[in-house]
Amino acid sequence: MQKPKVYITRRLPDEVVNPYKEYLDIEMWSKEEEPVERKVLIEQALSSHGLMTMLTENVDDQILKQSDNLSIVANMAVGYDNIDVKAAERLGIAVTNTPDVLTETTADLTFGLLMATARRMIEASQYIKQNKWEHWSPLMLAGTDIHGKTIGIVGMGRIGEAVAKRAIGFGMSVLYYNRSRKPEVEDTLGVRYEGFEELLAQADYVVCLTPLTEETKHMFNKDAFHRMKPEAFFINASRGATVDEQALYEAIIKKEIAGAGLDVFEKEPISSQHPLLSRPEVVCLPHIGSATKETRYKMMKLSLDNLVNHFQGKPLLTPVP
Ligand code: DGY
Repeated sequence: MQKPKVYITRRLPDEVVNPYKEYLDIEMWSKEEEPVERKVLIEQALSSHGLMTMLTENVDDQILKQSDNLSIVANMAVGYDNIDVKAAERLGIAVTNTPDVLTETTADLTFGLLMATARRMIEASQYIKQNKWEHWSPLMLAGTDIHGKTIGIVGMGRIGEAVAKRAIGFGMSVLYYNRSRKPEVEDTLGVRYEGFEELLAQADYVVCLTPLTEETKHMFNKDAFHRMKPEAFFINASRGATVDEQALYEAIIKKEIAGAGLDVFEKEPISSQHPLLSRPEVVCLPHIGSATKETRYKMMKLSLDNLVNHFQGKPLLTPVP
């Protein structure tokens, strides 16, 4: 029997992909670092039964509706805002993502980013590398405490809960805001639900972990930053478009908030000329939330397992709801 054709939009390690060649006829984009060209993606989608995509690909209605053979898109990310899920549903194309396997890794990075921002770690490292360290002094690179403070988590999904556990370990009080309240999480972790505006007003660290949807686009806008305390920090490890970056920049220069730690940006890669990059109180990372070798390998395998299950008529492991 002929194997289903699957196109992977990035060059992945042979040691991960080769075992799946028993079940799938796999082709890959040739480059490990660069995203697939749009025209190649369109051509490949036309001739493939399945796609394995990265968050860099815009799998829109145009691609989905013209790809008659396509029956599944396995996205190698927990977020799936790069896929037109409504169009896929209408066309009967399955979509999968990679939840769970990246939860703890992404929570580690999120909390690390909060710490690096509060304690000015990147600035401090540059201080030494740029040969500026001449003396010890009482307030040299003095940052802000983390223990004893209040964290406000916006988006209490799996990663939000994992960040809450870390914050509790650091002696923080935890507030959260979520589309729906989670009484069991409140009971087990001792976290408190607040309305969005109340959370903004009370938290010393506002951490955005909400998925990007039409409702959450630019939810961190001028008004939101205005409601935060001037000594509070904003941390984003979800998607850049949840933030109005111009409003964030203005809040920082007007000292309406103390700083920001950003792993994600509205347009990635962010331009080196972006005003936010010029600010010492902003720590920026290139979307590395889930980037450990262990976790990225698990994400690759989970996507490929979903593809195999789909073509063998078995239940998908992690279908997008
Ligand atoms: C995801 O999986 O959505 C993450 O942003 C990737 O690091």
